[in-house]
Amino acid sequence: MKLGILLLTLGFLSSCDGSKFQNSATQDLSRADKLHYEQYMIQGQQLYKTYCSNCHQPDGTGLGRLIPPLSQSDYMLENPYRTFCIIKYGLNKEIVVNGEAYNQPMPANERLTNIEIAQITTYIYNSWGHERGYIPVKEVSQEINKCQ
Ligand code: HEC
Repeated sequence: MKLGILLLTLGFLSSCDGSKFQNSATQDLSRADKLHYEQYMIQGQQLYKTYCSNCHQPDGTGLGRLIPPLSQSDYMLENPYRTFCIIKYGLNKEIVVNGEAYNQPMPANERLTNIEIAQITTYIYNSWGHERGYIPVKEVSQEINKCQ
């Protein structure tokens, strides 16, 4: 009985080697960057669950006419740097996502750190079929001061 549980646990652990985050977007990364990328994906998923998925849903499909989708969103995919600003400062204007107009306010998350923003962004740009690749914290630090 106990052995069965042990074997189950081992099987589970060995299936969690991070390879589920491999995709063509990460092919050219160094070994160190691949490790960072995998860590960002794991942390990013947790942060997404805490800060975003209530509204945008765990699968990123949004909620009807109220909450725009992130999965396959032309608006989001157009500009990751704008997404840093939206995460940190929220958004409160009409926008058009995949041809649909949305105009409900999204709250700010001013207490999120640059690294947390990089992790969330890496996660949402590499989930649901997106393959933008690793978005290092350096990019957030460089761009976040330019938010209007
Ligand atoms: C309280 C609900 C809510 C939460 C929580 C929330 N959002 Fe939003 N989000 C919205 C709404 C509503 C809009 C549209 C805002 C507008 O029209 O001004 C939006 C817009 C967006 C957009 C741009 C539009 C698109 O679909 O591409 C992105 C990107 C985005 N949110 C990402 C996030 C991320 C990442 C998080 C977590 C850090 C998050 N949001 C948390 C409600 C929310």
